Amino acid sequence: MFWRNNRSKHKANILLQSQKEQIQDTLKELKLTQQQLIQSEKMASLGELTAGVAHEIQNPLNFVNNFSEVSIEMLEEMELELKKGDSKEAISIAADVKQNLEKIGHHGKRADRIVKGMLQHSRSGSNLREPTDLNKLADEYMRLAYHGLRAKDKTFDTELKTELDSALPLINIVTQDVGRVLLNLFTNAFYAVQQKQKMAGDSFKPVVKVATALSGEFAQITVWDNGTGIPDAIKDKILQPFFTTKPTGEGTGLGLSLSYDIITKEHDGKIAIDSKEGEYTAFTISIPI
Ligand SMILES: Nc1ncnc2c1ncn2[C@@H]1O[C@H](COP(=O)(O)OP(=O)(O)OP(=O)(O)O)[C@@H](O)[C@H]1O
Ligand SMILES: [Mg+2]
Repeated sequence: MFWRNNRSKHKANILLQSQKEQIQDTLKELKLTQQQLIQSEKMASLGELTAGVAHEIQNPLNFVNNFSEVSIEMLEEMELELKKGDSKEAISIAADVKQNLEKIGHHGKRADRIVKGMLQHSRSGSNLREPTDLNKLADEYMRLAYHGLRAKDKTFDTELKTELDSALPLINIVTQDVGRVLLNLFTNAFYAVQQKQKMAGDSFKPVVKVATALSGEFAQITVWDNGTGIPDAIKDKILQPFFTTKPTGEGTGLGLSLSYDIITKEHDGKIAIDSKEGEYTAFTISIPI
């Protein structure tokens, strides 16, 4: 009896052991599949970007090619002038060549920004979430964006308003990424009021406002401006990668599409847009508490 009991116990042990191994195998497979899914999702969004990237880079690349060809011709002319002893003409050509090289640098940097933006889109984010004070973050990034812009344009001025809800709890987010979203929303808002100021003149008083609030299961941040507004005709395009109304060299059009990915995919949140052309724009991001 004792012998038989021991034997069946042994059998049960073997069964348990093999079940455990099976479960471990399945788990390994599941993890692998999950990794592959994440990877293919990233590759898919990268694929969506590729055509846009190629198109966007072509433009600055054409400039670089043309300006460098022209510069070679100009240097040849300069050599001739120097041989002739006309140093005045040679100096004037040198000044033009310098301008060309500046343009080459400018367009090279633009291509660089486009590629960097694309890499940000597809970067492998093992970024950790941490409890974050959204009020502090919103305020900090508003100032950051404002002073960034003021450094480039001293004449730019706008009223900054904050309506921060002190009852907001700490929210678990990838701080750096949500910061990036805020930076883009503020930069867009400042740009919009700046543009309107150029058109409307001194009578216009620019205002950029940030508000936070609790709404049900969500913490919300709204960035509001009384700038140019978004025409209805382009409202459904502004989230697309590379959609921009800014002149060449000023925007890549990746800001909002990147923001959309960070809020909806990374944080299971939402982005809402409210705007009236010529009057105001408000972007509200909602993140689950
Ligand atoms: N606050 C705003 N007021 C008016 N238009 C806006 C505002 N925010 C965004 N837009 C419109 O949406 C477009 C896309 O914005 P997005 O941030 O994606 O790109 P961008 O600002 O043009 O370039 P980037 O952010 O890459 O420098 C802008 O070019 C602009 O036409
Ligand atoms: Mg932008």
